[in-house]
Amino acid sequence: PQKETPSQWTKEQVKATLPERDPNSHKGSFGTALLIAGTKEMPGAALLAGLGAMRSGVGKLVIATEAEAMAMIVPRLPEATYVQNGMQRIAEQLASVDAYRAAAIGPGTEPDRMTEDALSVLLESSMPLIVDAGALSRRTYAERQAPVILTPHPAEFSRITGVAVDELQKHRADYAAEWAEKLGVAIVLKGQNTVTAFQDGEVWINPTGNSSLAKGGTGDTLAGIMLGMLCCHNDWKHAVLNAVHMHGACADEWTKTRSPHTLLAHELAELLPEVWAAFE
Ligand code: APR
Ligand code: MG
Repeated sequence: PQKETPSQWTKEQVKATLPERDPNSHKGSFGTALLIAGTKEMPGAALLAGLGAMRSGVGKLVIATEAEAMAMIVPRLPEATYVQNGMQRIAEQLASVDAYRAAAIGPGTEPDRMTEDALSVLLESSMPLIVDAGALSRRTYAERQAPVILTPHPAEFSRITGVAVDELQKHRADYAAEWAEKLGVAIVLKGQNTVTAFQDGEVWINPTGNSSLAKGGTGDTLAGIMLGMLCCHNDWKHAVLNAVHMHGACADEWTKTRSPHTLLAHELAELLPEVWAAFE
């Protein structure tokens, strides 16, 4: 049966729930985020997510990526530190995942055995976890204290559920809510008017964003912004909703003066400082 249309997560709600940066704070106050992203063939995804995270309130960022990707990222994001060949080291339990405030896995990674193994290790931890792109597969999630947040685009959601994209797109909120409850995770179903469904039944529609986001790399930036937001918000649900809203608001800022054909994903991170300030 068709359910009621969920409410929008509005600009007013973002304003009311964004955290302040305590004048007394130091980098430790906001924790260290772990980003597992990028391969030799897709190094840019790790850079884009890294830029998104470091622009979004994090204290420190550690990027677990392949050596070849590191060489490309370091000059453009010297603020981060690295675990070389980190996906493999985490999968083999050679690198600890204990000291982090939050983690994201998947941007620019292959949906292979190593990714699955690294995800399994992360799921054993007690931190909020964002699962994106290559880390999204058809699987179950054992109950855990900290949240798991899946960020699929419609084709990835189809891979997770086995339901055809056309059918999913006709009932986006209903399917997101159904699978959030079934899997015991939060589902951020991307695309125009991104739907965020929490496992307790709460569902929100995002009002921001536009077709300038229909370009490779913008999803990686979102995963990073969300990771940073998890580190500076007290309420993880607000972090997820505000990340989606703010990412779309950056695209809306872009199209005020520029064609939607022309946005580059890394420019979202450049727009974010002023867009964020407009909410404060
Ligand atoms: N209107 C509003 N927002 C849109 C629109 C639109 N018409 N089109 C796309 N978006 C937004 C989505 O809501 C999402 O936030 O742009 C972002 C796109 O995210 P992805 O589809 O994940 O794209 P991205 O990750 O950048 O593309 C490359 O796709 O298949 C994966 O693993 C692959 O990581 C790789 C990725
Ligand atoms: Mg993606």
